[in-house]
Formats: sequence, structure tokens, C-alpha cells
Amino acid sequence: MSNRIIIEALSGSYEAVTGERILEKELPPLLSRFSSDKLFLLVDEKVWNFHETRLTSILEPLSAELHIMQVPSGENSKSIGFWTQAVDFLLSRQVRRNTPVIVAGGGVAGDAGGFAAAATLRGVPLIHLPTTLLAMVDSSIGGKTGINHEAGKNLIGAFYQPAGVIADTAFLSTLPEREWINGLSEILKYGAIRDATIFDDASFFLDHDFRHQVSPDSLSRLISKCIRVKADVVKQDEFESGERAFLNFGHTFAHALEKACSYNTISHGEAVFLGMLAAQKLSNLEGGNVSGDFIEKFSGLYQYRVPKEALSFNEIISYMESDKKRTDKQLRFVLLKEWQHPELKSVLNYRHIEKSAEAIFEQLA
Ligand SMILES: NC(=O)c1ccc[n+]([C@@H]2O[C@H](COP(=O)([O-])OP(=O)(O)OC[C@H]3O[C@@H](n4cnc5c(N)ncnc54)[C@H](O)[C@@H]3O)[C@@H](O)[C@H]2O)c1
Repeated sequence: MSNRIIIEALSGSYEAVTGERILEKELPPLLSRFSSDKLFLLVDEKVWNFHETRLTSILEPLSAELHIMQVPSGENSKSIGFWTQAVDFLLSRQVRRNTPVIVAGGGVAGDAGGFAAAATLRGVPLIHLPTTLLAMVDSSIGGKTGINHEAGKNLIGAFYQPAGVIADTAFLSTLPEREWINGLSEILKYGAIRDATIFDDASFFLDHDFRHQVSPDSLSRLISKCIRVKADVVKQDEFESGERAFLNFGHTFAHALEKACSYNTISHGEAVFLGMLAAQKLSNLEGGNVSGDFIEKFSGLYQYRVPKEALSFNEIISYMESDKKRTDKQLRFVLLKEWQHPELKSVLNYRHIEKSAEAIFEQLA
């Protein structure tokens, strides 16, 4: 079974397809739209190690000239250095305006490879093959590409929509459990801001050995629900002037936590989960009515490497403040009036922020 979602963007609509072992069927018609004798694959190195045989058996028959570049695993690939190498790779092998560039990997490969495709020749056709849960539900959808700068994360980049997204859940068979849990945080975010049924659908995560217990169809359906929420939000606000900010539920706290941990001892997904717990508490302190443990019941799945003593509220707030300088005069949060009713709100009462941050410290050992 496969699920198809149309993503409407100003530069044109494209389709995201989810399902188990769908790449064989879905890729040929997508590639046939570009009359090119060349094909590029930028692929996360771990994905290549696990899936080289399958990928080459699918791709080689589809192009007279296949060029493959591996993307080293890890956030360091979202760097100007790697991005330059990727652009050099494409240009030195005579990429043309109609040459498809497939990017296979998680959010790192997708963001960096996507930005290389966006900038080379002012844009060559990009196809995302997300291979992490996070990339399937989030980063491959919506057209944000980019790399990091020493001044901060994701500070260089472009809005560049792909020609198509194929989320083949067979790739997830090799994804470590910790990375599944990272993806869960973004899934719960969609449940919180838009679609309550996502909380129920995600409850398989609470089963022992959930990675092997979940059926491919349920997984594909859950991923497609998440993509649908993101597609809907992006359609309303492609360039993030308003509603797209709702996708940042939990992220104001999360970004500060990631910075406080030097992007090292906490993963983005872990930080987002903690950030959502704090944002739920802050929502209630700021007049919302957000009860129930729809998110908290997943707490046991997260295993933090950062001890409580390594963080302080003052540090967290100072990182929020430094973020604030780039955007607004006041600290702004995505809060919930009720579940599935987000709002963007400036919070003036620092005591409320401090009380909400307790939800973070309670989770750490
Ligand atoms: N563009 C956007 O809209 C957007 C949205 C959310 C996050 N992001 C970005 O996404 C990045 C995080 O993405 P991520 O969580 O996918 O991390 P990631 O790309 O670093 O992948 C996580 C790990 O899983 C490995 N991996 C990938 N696929 C695998 C597979 N199928 N089997 C085994 N191992 C595999 C990778 O090598 C890596 O070690 C961050 O840089 C974040 O800023 C972007």
C-alpha cells in the first residue's frame, strides 16, 4: 500500500509518496520527466553502507551515466566545506539544468544536498529519498534547504521545493532506535498542533520492540498523516511569515537546549520532546487549557545523556534571549490554547517561563 500527498507550492506542486519498498515503482516515472542521460545520487554514507546493493540495482538501469557522492554522516556535513564539495562534484561532471539530483539520507543529507541542488545552475531538479523517520515526516517536505554557519544553525540556505519525495519505509529497517525516537518528537508535534489521531497512531512506539512490531501499512499511514499536516501548513505560508511558525511548537526551548549542550550531548529530537513538555506547561500558565498526558506518556522512551546539573535556567533563558535578538523584541513561543489550537504568543512573565522549564529538569537524571 502506498499513500500519496500533493504538496502545493508557489513554484509548482509535487507529490510525496510513502510506502514499503515503493522506490522501484515510483522512481522511474518521476525520472522520466527529465530527459537527461545523467543522474546524480548524493547519499548519506551509512545509508550507502546498508543499502548500496538495492540502490545501485534500482538506479543503474535508469541512467546511462550515474554519478554517486557519499555524504559523511553527521551534522558537520551541513557545512560550507561539504556544500562546496557537492557543488564541485556536480559541476565537474557537467550537471545540466535538466539533470536530476537524488538526495538519499536524513535531514542532514537532505538539507545540505538539497541546498547544493538549489544553488547549482540556479537550481537543478531535486528528488528527496528520506531515509530517517524525521526526514520522512519533516525535513524532506516543505522546501527548506540549507547549511550551518559558525554563527548558528541553518543560517545559510534557500527555499527550494523538490520535484518529488519518495519516503520508502524499507530504509527504516536499518535505522537505529534512537533515531526513530528523534522522529517521534516531530510526529507528536503534528499531533499537538493539528491532528489528535496522530497521538493514537503513534502509540505503537510504546510497545516493546516497536520497530519490528509496527506494520508497514500503519507506519506509512502515520507518515502520510504527518506529511499532510506539514503540506497544509506550508501551503498556507510557504515562506514562514506566519502559520508555518506553528511547526516550531516546542522548538524555542529546544533550540536553547541544543545550544546549551553545544549540539553535542542532546539530539534535536530529544530537545524538541523536552521543549514540548515545557511549552505545554507554559501554555497552561498563559491561560491555555491543555491537559492530559498525550505527549508525556512517551517520556520513558527518551534516554538523555545530559545530566540535570549541566544545565541552568539562566543559561537556557540567555540562549532564548540571544535568539530573540534576531527576530523580535520579546520572547515568542508557539503555545496551545487547547490541543490542536496553536497560537504564536509573546510571553512577558519570566516567572512563567522559569516554571515551565521545570518540566525539562524533571526529566533529566
Ligand atoms: N529542512 C527542514 O525543514 C528541516 C526540518 C527538521 C530538521 N531539519 C534538519 O534535519 C537534520 C536532522 O535530520 P535527521 O534527524 O534525519 O539526522 P541525520 O541526517 O543526521 O541522520 C541521523 C543518523 O542516521 C543515519 N541514517 C540515516 N538514514 C539511515 C538509515 N536508513 N539506516 C541507518 N542509519 C541511517 C545518519 O547517517 C545519521 O547518523 C538537522 O540538521 C535539522 O536541522 C531540517
